[in-house]
Amino acid sequence: MSIVREPVSIFSSIPTMEGAGVRLKRAFGHAEAPRLDPFLLLDDIHSQNPEDYIAGFPWHPHRGIETVTYVLHGDVEHGDSIGNRGAIGDGDVQWMTAGSGIVHQEMPQPTGGDMRGLQLWVNLPASMKMMDPRYRDIKADTIPVVIQETGIMVRVVAGNFGGESGPMEDLVQGPTYLDVTLSPGTRFEHSFEPGHTAFAYTLNGAGNFSPKAGKPVGEEHIVLYGPGSGVEIIAGETGLRFLLISGQPIGEPVAWRGPIVMNTEEELYEAFREYRDGTFIKVGEEP
Ligand code: CO
Repeated sequence: MSIVREPVSIFSSIPTMEGAGVRLKRAFGHAEAPRLDPFLLLDDIHSQNPEDYIAGFPWHPHRGIETVTYVLHGDVEHGDSIGNRGAIGDGDVQWMTAGSGIVHQEMPQPTGGDMRGLQLWVNLPASMKMMDPRYRDIKADTIPVVIQETGIMVRVVAGNFGGESGPMEDLVQGPTYLDVTLSPGTRFEHSFEPGHTAFAYTLNGAGNFSPKAGKPVGEEHIVLYGPGSGVEIIAGETGLRFLLISGQPIGEPVAWRGPIVMNTEEELYEAFREYRDGTFIKVGEEP
């Protein structure tokens, strides 16, 4: 019999300054990451004021991780050391495997209204940290949308829901990444692999993330689930939108400084030394 997962920790995102002076909210990072293996960090940019994000994230390196950028509203221009240049807009996803090393920039553009984008960092196991870098640009219209009469709408970015598979398939830790919108009072269930880490991040509205009665969770909160398989979520009176994410834990030591995540201090030292010496990029060229 499958066991319903219960939330083991609920916490709110925290205002943080990142990049060249971007005001964002960090849903989780260094302090929480050991409990969220293979996930390292989730940042949420949400503002109507371009001054909060226009400084962007100019050229910087990454090694040893994958990043998933999901733009809900707005426009983010990017370029990288393996030759990609372009923009990601409303509903698009960019999935980037830094592997042995990528240098890129991510520059949110001013919009007339709301800018909202999320970036998730997923760790790579030791055996894959030095794999060749790769980049996938997923346009909004290629992401399946499952609509159920019970008041459920799900954009399937990765993993499976309602008979649809997300376009991101060759991800190292096999994550599920769903964007779920529920009408007021709607009940939602989903099963994950037992043993995989699973969490929700609330975007809008409020709801209850356990079948047991409890205090509703409002927006911009992480709900980290404990062991089991499925989750049961019930939207509050104003409806609920959240990301539901899971992945296979890695269970290896983490040595992490800034944008580089390795297994040992020596590997970190090596990465920063190579970046200074201009030998960091193994595939592609310095932009
Ligand atoms: Co970056």
